Amino acid sequence: MRRRIVAGNWKMNGSMDLVTTLVPAVSAAVASGEVAGSVVIFPPALYVPGVLKAAGGELEVGVQNVSQWRAGAYTGDLSAVMAADTGCHYALVGHSERRQYFGETDAVVALKVRQALDAGLVVMVCVGETLAQRDAGDAESVVASQVRAALADVTQDEWARVVVAYEPVWAIGTGKTATAEDAQAMHASIRQVLGAIGAPADDVSVLYGGSVKADNAPALFAEADIDGGLIGGASLSAEEFVSICRSLPADDNG
Ligand code: 13P
Repeated sequence: MRRRIVAGNWKMNGSMDLVTTLVPAVSAAVASGEVAGSVVIFPPALYVPGVLKAAGGELEVGVQNVSQWRAGAYTGDLSAVMAADTGCHYALVGHSERRQYFGETDAVVALKVRQALDAGLVVMVCVGETLAQRDAGDAESVVASQVRAALADVTQDEWARVVVAYEPVWAIGTGKTATAEDAQAMHASIRQVLGAIGAPADDVSVLYGGSVKADNAPALFAEADIDGGLIGGASLSAEEFVSICRSLPADDNG
């Protein structure tokens, strides 16, 4: 059965101060049973050990990116094996900012998915269309092809370690959110694609990301195929983020 998840992607933000203030606040909310699902934090990699320590085992922690290579002379890169070795559970792969600013193609994203799965991590794969693609009526086909490309060689026993995050590029950091209905339609479409490529589609968590805040999270999370959220800006505020975590519905949509 799929899990409900709220994940915070700090992007290139944060500090030791944020680690020692925000993380214990989120951990306390999870520990007190107020959150009907799992909470994952993706801090910048340098802060991973601090977040793991401050999380006290209540939260899962991941890296925002991994290398497409396993090891070797790739100065500045961090491998999936290292992420697992230092206690990470998750790797975020294929975020639109990586695709846009670092030239990551679907082929590179697929290599990173493979590295993450081989290292034993849960991989959270980001997909999403640009505004031009949506306006041209291509949103579903663009997202479908990103899903197929990233996940083509996932084996049956690996699907339990795959999460998809649908993040329309036009909604990221803009304050514009997809309506709950539009997001639901895309999530249903993603689930169909997952089924078509051999995944146990009803068991794969599909999260929504893009300007999710405390006030719009409940409507999004109430949709049948939206299993939680991937949160950027609002994950940097303990109050906002805890409130988003609390809005995961307690009922079972699996
Ligand atoms: P915002 O929540 O800031 O729009 O960012 C979403 C995102 O890109 C999370 O990965």
